[in-house]
Amino acid sequence: MQIAIDGPASAGKSTIAKLIAKNLDFVYCDTGAMYRTVTLLAKENQVDYGNESGILELMHDHKIYFVNKTDGQHVYLDDKDVSEVIRTEEITNNVSQVSAIKEVRTELVEMQRKMADNTNIVMDGRDIGTTVLPKAEVKIFLIASVSVRAQRRFKDNQERGIDVPLAQLEDEIATRDYKDSHREISPLKKADDAIEVDTSDMTIEQVVERVTEIVNEKK
Ligand code: DC
Repeated sequence: MQIAIDGPASAGKSTIAKLIAKNLDFVYCDTGAMYRTVTLLAKENQVDYGNESGILELMHDHKIYFVNKTDGQHVYLDDKDVSEVIRTEEITNNVSQVSAIKEVRTELVEMQRKMADNTNIVMDGRDIGTTVLPKAEVKIFLIASVSVRAQRRFKDNQERGIDVPLAQLEDEIATRDYKDSHREISPLKKADDAIEVDTSDMTIEQVVERVTEIVNEKK
C-alpha cells in the first residue's frame, strides 16, 4: 500500500508521516529531505542555486540516500550524514529555487518511484499524490494556517537552538508557500482524490487518529 502525504511547509507532514509509518510498519520517505540535500550540495560546492546544469552535474557526481537507524531515518550525501545540516535557515530559504528545476525533479521523482515500487510506504512531500505516486491508495493533504505553522517552526527552532523571530518565520513560510504553489513543474497542489485535513486546531495524536481512520477505510 502507498500512502501519499502532501501539503505546504510546516503543516506537520513529516511528524505525521513518520508516526503512521511506524504504527503500520511501513517504510517512510521524506522527499523534502532529498530536495534539501541537493540544495546543500550546491551550497557546499559554491554552485549558484539557479545554475541548472551545474547542479545537475553535481547530482550525477554525488550520491543521496537514506539509512534507517534506531532513532529514525537519516539522509546521507555520499558518506556524510546530513540530516541536521539540511534543516538550517540557509537551506530552508533556498530549497524552493532548487526544487523548481525541472531536471532536478525528474531525477528525484525517479528515485522516489523506485523506493515506492512494490513497497508498503508512507511518502511525504508536495507532489506525491499528483505526480510521484498518482495511484497511491491513500492521499492526504495536510494544511494549517500560516500563523500556526510559524509557531510550530518557532518551537522547533528553539529546541534546536536557532533564534529567528516569529514574524520573520511567518514571512518565510508565506513566501515558500507562494513559490512552491506557483512553480511551473509539479506545483504544490491538492490531488483531486486527496482528503484534506486541517491540522490548525488539532494535536499530533488527533491528526494521527484521523489519518489512521482514512487509511483503515481504504484497506
Ligand atoms: O518538506 P520540506 O519543507 O522539507 O521541503 C523542502 C522543500 O522541498 C519545499 O520548500 C519544496 C520542496 N519539495 C518539493 O518541491 N517536492 C517535494 N515532493 C518535497 C519537497
